[in-house]
Amino acid sequence: MTLAGRSLVTMDDLSNGEIEAIFSLADEMAAATDKQTRLPKSGGDGGQAGICKGKIMASLFFEPSTRTRLSFEAAMHRLGGNVISVVDAKATSLAKGESISDMARIVGSYADIIVIRHPWEGAAKVVADYAGVPVINAGDGGHQHPTQTLLDLYTIKRERQTIKGLKIALWGDLKYGRTIHSLIFALAKFGANILFCPTPGLEVPQNIIKKLVAEYGGELEVIRGSDGRKKTSSFPLDAIYITPKSPHQLAMMPDLNLEVELKAGVDALYVTRPQKERFADGEAGQIEQNFPVVNKKFLKGEQFKKTLVMHPLPRVDELAYEVDADPRSMYFKQAAWGVPVRMALLTLLLGAKEAEVREEPSAFEPRTDYPVYNRGYAVTCPNPVCVSVQETETKYLKPEFKIVNLEPLTLRCVYCEHGFEPRYVASAEWHEGRLDTRKYHGADSHLVKKIKPENLIIFDSASQAEERGFKPSHYA
Ligand code: CP
Repeated sequence: MTLAGRSLVTMDDLSNGEIEAIFSLADEMAAATDKQTRLPKSGGDGGQAGICKGKIMASLFFEPSTRTRLSFEAAMHRLGGNVISVVDAKATSLAKGESISDMARIVGSYADIIVIRHPWEGAAKVVADYAGVPVINAGDGGHQHPTQTLLDLYTIKRERQTIKGLKIALWGDLKYGRTIHSLIFALAKFGANILFCPTPGLEVPQNIIKKLVAEYGGELEVIRGSDGRKKTSSFPLDAIYITPKSPHQLAMMPDLNLEVELKAGVDALYVTRPQKERFADGEAGQIEQNFPVVNKKFLKGEQFKKTLVMHPLPRVDELAYEVDADPRSMYFKQAAWGVPVRMALLTLLLGAKEAEVREEPSAFEPRTDYPVYNRGYAVTCPNPVCVSVQETETKYLKPEFKIVNLEPLTLRCVYCEHGFEPRYVASAEWHEGRLDTRKYHGADSHLVKKIKPENLIIFDSASQAEERGFKPSHYA
């Protein structure tokens, strides 16, 4: 199977078998990299150095980065390829009002592969749609960061040999942490149980929870204490996603079993920093005061005896430096695996090697075949940091949504994956040629299910419907 020419924008873009194939090649790359480091004079390339000779990677980082940018660039250099890079949007023609689609076409004509980090959610998808070469999302706002997830999974697999059935706790900023959002779907795909431990106010966004529950086959159990706050006695837990693959009592889920399961040990604690740069106005003060610190004392709990302590880094104050010397700390190793994992990914997307994909027949894949709504008017993505609502991009981008549910009618933006429930609908079929029957209805009315997806017209507001000549029905 070939991954050549493909892009990686979200974790949905890779099957489990393809991820495993990247990891197998990363194992080879890791061995080769060790040799390169130890024996620079004799080459010691393990067959990898030079594999991407003559290829150019464009590294476009419009947000700060140490690990992702430098590990991608190091990876390309180790493969014998070349790198062109931009680290400041102000130094590009984006500052003059150029759209990112135009930038993508241009850079795609200079480079063989593009790695992009951008603050707008969905920006990497637009670049992938227009560049004509493979594009790797190195973080698009608070949406996803799939290559971080690859190296997170790779670290867990190297340490625990499997991901299936493990209990992985996600800690800190689960609202804005893009590494968390990618990791949630990847863990679910590989059959892990996920323990959600957010700082109060930074819970996982509902659109992610809804996608997880609707598409990944597991159950979400919300944990509530007597004071109404969600918690367990052994662990400050908000909710738990139980994989359908779990053979444990966890699947039965009474509180007592949960306590027993937690005491039996958490396999990994994935700590994240408060993503202050994405906080809404007024969100910072209270949240920062309550942001818990993972330190030696916290890790003394029985449930953390064999826990891998992970962090995508950078850290601020949420993970004490005293943990660094603890054998459970994984974060520097985790960051170092970024090079061989990204070497493997670049090699496969550039088609320098074929991927050896062995897909289990039962491998779980989430649903992706939703009807699409792209009439291009009246309804827009409500996410203010979505690429589809930015002034420079609305000149050519048509809003596009997956219709992921009918009761209630729920749309998911194809760019930022933000989910929302629009307010009004009409049918293109019922009114066609008959102005008197141009009626709009409440999106919560039973009529929604009667309108074929291809005939749906969706409005954000009654005034939009009326501006387009629709009158309210009894169900508006
Ligand atoms: N983990 C991560 O994305 O780090 P950087 O922001 O330094 O790239």
